[in-house]
Amino acid sequence: MKKVLVTGATGRTGSLVVKKLREKSAQFQVVGLARNEAKVKEIFGSTDGFFFGTIKEKNVVEKAISGCDILVILTSAVPQIKGKPEPGTRPEFYFPEGESPEEID
Ligand SMILES: NC(=O)c1ccc[n+]([C@@H]2O[C@H](COP(=O)([O-])OP(=O)(O)OC[C@H]3O[C@@H](n4cnc5c(N)ncnc54)[C@H](OP(=O)(O)O)[C@@H]3O)[C@@H](O)[C@H]2O)c1
Repeated sequence: MKKVLVTGATGRTGSLVVKKLREKSAQFQVVGLARNEAKVKEIFGSTDGFFFGTIKEKNVVEKAISGCDILVILTSAVPQIKGKPEPGTRPEFYFPEGESPEEID
């Protein structure tokens, strides 16, 4: 039995990975890290097996990863659109302070 931590567990990829690993419950015990409790309830029906916080909260990450054999990192910075693009122009994106891909992914 391997204990696996999945970060970004409420994301498109992370939620699929958690569900797939849960189907193999004889081989894997899954722990999820997420920042939105309501989203976890909506996707998984309960918050069992989840730790809550952002990827930058060291104490939460340390608790979540405790005793894990495998880490699957699926957190990903979410780009925001800059203002309203002019018709015929491409939208511009930015990452909020402290939420760049280098820090989150
Ligand atoms: N190799 C491949 O074929 C492949 C395929 C698909 C994806 N990927 C990679 O997998 C990663 C995830 O992609 P995705 O499409 O699943 O992204 P996504 O749906 O945008 O999910 C991103 C996840 O990161 C979480 N997150 C963002 N900022 C966070 C923070 N500060 N603290 C904690 N969690 C945070 C989001 O939480 P919320 O839900 O609360 O917003 C969400 O759960 C990306 O790196 C992508 O490139 C690779």
